[in-house]
Amino acid sequence: MSQSGKIADRQSDLIGQTDMLKIRSLSALCGSDIYLKCEFQNPGGSIKDRAALQLVTDAIERGELKPGMTIVEGTAGNTGIGLAVVAKSLGFDLLVVMPNDQTPEKTRMIEMHGARLKAVPPVPFKDESHFYHTARRLAESRDDYWWANQFENTSNMRAHYLHTGPEIWQQTDGKVDILVSVSGTGGTIAGNSRYLKEKNPNLEVWLADPDGSGSYAYLRDGQFVSQGSSMTEGIGIMRLVENFAQAQIDYAVNLPDQDLIAISRYVQTHDGIVLGSSSALNVAAAFFAALHRPKGKTIVTFACDLGERSASKLYNVNYLRERGLNPEPEDIAHLKARYLQDGSRILKV
Ligand SMILES: Cc1ncc(COP(=O)(O)O)c(C=O)c1O
Repeated sequence: MSQSGKIADRQSDLIGQTDMLKIRSLSALCGSDIYLKCEFQNPGGSIKDRAALQLVTDAIERGELKPGMTIVEGTAGNTGIGLAVVAKSLGFDLLVVMPNDQTPEKTRMIEMHGARLKAVPPVPFKDESHFYHTARRLAESRDDYWWANQFENTSNMRAHYLHTGPEIWQQTDGKVDILVSVSGTGGTIAGNSRYLKEKNPNLEVWLADPDGSGSYAYLRDGQFVSQGSSMTEGIGIMRLVENFAQAQIDYAVNLPDQDLIAISRYVQTHDGIVLGSSSALNVAAAFFAALHRPKGKTIVTFACDLGERSASKLYNVNYLRERGLNPEPEDIAHLKARYLQDGSRILKV
């Protein structure tokens, strides 16, 4: 048993200080220790609780966000849930703008936490009805609205620089060799990479990128170009935002959705861990990285949110078939052999 937990005054005090869990099955297969930072333990069920708390507390400290004001944010969902937890804890109202193609699991949680929700069509960023522009316009329409702006507001990465990174360093006794992370706003990979590389400049940072995201191409040749699409939510982006710009990335790997089925089912069966889709990408990339490095490394990645939030997509056979994916998982020995041969997927940044 781990040490006893904390007693909190309000829910937002429970954010952070998450545990780390070794993925025993994959660690045995690759000869390195792959650890998951269990971000689903945050009260809102995702890593975005950390960003939400820092965005809000920094704004209060700067005097931008005052009692009686409403927090406004555009989000794929998890930041909305995190902000809903933080807003209620600290006495603010919240208005969330969200694309209407995200899993109903997340929409329900935002509403259950008492936030107002405005659903908009999922359109490209250049379209003015994109959730980001809609949130900005709404926030500008009233003096008592405050826009969190998780993409450009670097309080987001500060949450990880100040808290998540130090937790990882402490939990691994400074032995972390490789950090693997997906990126949505880039807050996670930026804050953690900056902190951990200050502690150990030899630490490797790997970006895991899904199909449909331009980040891999951007790191390769400076242009946001993407191919295909992904069922993952909250990650992958087609423009340079301030939080991602702060990240210190050494390697990037792009992996297709089909691999997330193999990895999630293997870990589900052997370790009893139900990964959300972005977490499955993290774990696939961590396994990939491990196979291309000497054995005995300590690799840390994130369980970004609750696996339940991917129930209607990653764990829904009909949905997978509709997307043209094979719901039958590839044999792990086959996946491992394929990854070992596929070194050309690694982009050295
Ligand atoms: C499920 C999930 N995973 C990963 C991320 C990426 O985190 P970040 O915005 O810190 O890059 C998000 C962001 O919203 C998310 O919702």
